[in-house]
Amino acid sequence: MSSQVSIKNAPALGELLDFARAAAADTALHDRLGTLPDERTWISLAGPGGSEAWLIGWPPGAETGWHDHGGSRGAFVTARGTLRESSIAIPLPTAGWRSLELLPDVDRELDLPAGAGRGFGPHHVHQVVNPSAEQHAISVHVYYPPLPLIRRYSRRGRVLGLETVELPGQW
Ligand SMILES: [Fe+2]
Repeated sequence: MSSQVSIKNAPALGELLDFARAAAADTALHDRLGTLPDERTWISLAGPGGSEAWLIGWPPGAETGWHDHGGSRGAFVTARGTLRESSIAIPLPTAGWRSLELLPDVDRELDLPAGAGRGFGPHHVHQVVNPSAEQHAISVHVYYPPLPLIRRYSRRGRVLGLETVELPGQW
């Protein structure tokens, strides 16, 4: 799938992050996003260089669960509220395993208030939550190549287990 995408003209991670920062600062764009009390909401954006981009609204407590990005790189920036990212500090293979025991020192947690964000490589595994009990959050997410699939994982203690593989249209 990713072999169909030109690597030569691939946008740099910095470009993805710049795009996410600019869209996160665009309050007129945020006003187009409706909010729901119990579900995330989203608008598709035209990311740079053929990338996939989304503006996402997070109700209080909304979370993604542990997942990867099918080998795509990406970036995200909080536009409103604060998002909390839990991630694995080492690159993990995107395929070829079903269950993996992590060492105790590879968990990371990062709070990203409005204006803050991060880029990530093709082997990034994380989960993202809006930890607020009252406040909606908004964020911008951008991926290159466009997400070919998402692998979803369970997390029991230090063991990460592959649960499902979702294809475009299933998330
Ligand atoms: Fe993600």
